[in-house]
Amino acid sequence: MNQDSILIQPLADTDLPRCAEIMSAQDPWKGLGIGVDRCCFAISGAHLVRYGLYLEGQVVGLAIVHPTGFASSPYLVVLAVDAAHTGRGLGSRLLGRVEQEAFRDRRNLFLCVTSFNARAQRFYLARGYVQIGVIEDFFKPGVDEFIFRKVRMP
Ligand SMILES: CC(C)(COP(=O)(O)OP(=O)(O)OC[C@H]1O[C@@H](n2cnc3c(N)ncnc32)[C@H](O)[C@@H]1OP(=O)(O)O)[C@@H](O)C(=O)NCCC(=O)NCCS
Repeated sequence: MNQDSILIQPLADTDLPRCAEIMSAQDPWKGLGIGVDRCCFAISGAHLVRYGLYLEGQVVGLAIVHPTGFASSPYLVVLAVDAAHTGRGLGSRLLGRVEQEAFRDRRNLFLCVTSFNARAQRFYLARGYVQIGVIEDFFKPGVDEFIFRKVRMP
């Protein structure tokens, strides 16, 4: 992969439908039965900060942040990379960009991970996130949401 061809920039509104497809095609959204329309709605709010990850001009990933979404701190609503491009460092780059901007003036960054999404849990634990709580039976009975927190290094 040519590193020069990767760009993280504000997500274009015209790319929202493609991003919703990227989400709904994989877990946790796929496993929860959350389709393209609901994914699109979830990432469309006017209050959200949207990052698009572009590879050779095509959007292949997204990060969506609510700047005050959890205890008045930044909350990472969505992080997703097109399944065709995972495992190549793109998710780490996107998360790094989110952290860089969040930690500029805030001490905490929060996010949730679905209990059956073991790969994402490993991904966040390896990047300094700590599970601080659980919302039991959130989406449906037996499916919990784990609350993760990362604190800015001094
Ligand atoms: C979680 C996610 C964003 C990570 O993106 P990514 O581009 O694969 O991230 P990276 O390549 O930077 O790192 C992935 C890690 O998994 C490992 N990995 C191994 N095989 C892999 C595979 N087939 N697919 C993905 N990751 C794999 C990588 O080696 C890396 O390990 P590391 O933590 O030791 O570095 C991506 O898998 C994704 O979009 N998942 C679906 C949505 C999701 O679960 N989002 C998070 C909750 S909202």
